Amino acid sequence: MKGVILAGGLGTRLYPLTKVTNKHLLPVYDKPMIYYPIQTLINAGIDDILIVTGGNNAGDFLRLLGNGKEFGLKHINYTYQQGEGGIAEALGLAEFFAAGESVCVVLGDNIIEKNIRRAAEAFRKQKEGAKILLKEVSDPYRFGVAELKGDRIVRIEEKPKEPKSNYAVIGIYFYDHTVFDFIKTLKPSERGELEITDVNNRYIEKGAMTYDILEGWWTDAGTFESLLRANQLVAQTGANKVS
Ligand code: DAU
Repeated sequence: MKGVILAGGLGTRLYPLTKVTNKHLLPVYDKPMIYYPIQTLINAGIDDILIVTGGNNAGDFLRLLGNGKEFGLKHINYTYQQGEGGIAEALGLAEFFAAGESVCVVLGDNIIEKNIRRAAEAFRKQKEGAKILLKEVSDPYRFGVAELKGDRIVRIEEKPKEPKSNYAVIGIYFYDHTVFDFIKTLKPSERGELEITDVNNRYIEKGAMTYDILEGWWTDAGTFESLLRANQLVAQTGANKVS
């Protein structure tokens, strides 16, 4: 399984912090934000990694990360997303890198306290379809939200005004290689983006989606409130713990 980190987009919700740099290069406590999703993949035993970047500062990723020596990697792959056509568009750029293998996709602004080792193991055994991770939150309307019936997910709604549960779909996804065919059939949403929630709903409709509940805290860091929260959580308890 290969790893893909999506670190494109323009980070407009964090303006002016993102006026002269990419959101994922901003500090979260003692490290640049992009360090956390890289560590998430490495802790799951995934070391063949592609970073999808965008905007005016894409070259800074190379300056910061090089070939990933600091993480014990021998190589990091990079690609460039023109504009911000959505998470699913950014993932579509990873098709050649994936080369028929399954992928673990991590959004570049998602940080976790623990690790996804167990979910990654389960997905390796699952072989086909997709797997997502859910986390109970107090503000589900900010996220993709799972509608559950018994222990089944029946649908995911993107940023619903009236959420059908408190379970947010976090920005860590496992997909088999057919994800790239799904992406090619997507139409832009009302906000003009190819939505990862539409991809996930395709897998649900096919009966090919499983899920786990994430252990430990999870946060995104794409707004002033969540960036502050991310800093506080990392400073107080640390992130990307292996045990
Ligand atoms: O954090 C989890 C949530 O992330 C999920 O619950 C939602 O279902 C999912 O849509 C997403 O919601 P956001 O609106 O918070 O996503 P955002 O636009 O902030 O993008 C998250 C990351 O995805 C961002 O840090 C970089 C990457 N991205 C995003 C866009 C729009 C790209 O690489 N390219 C893009 O065009």
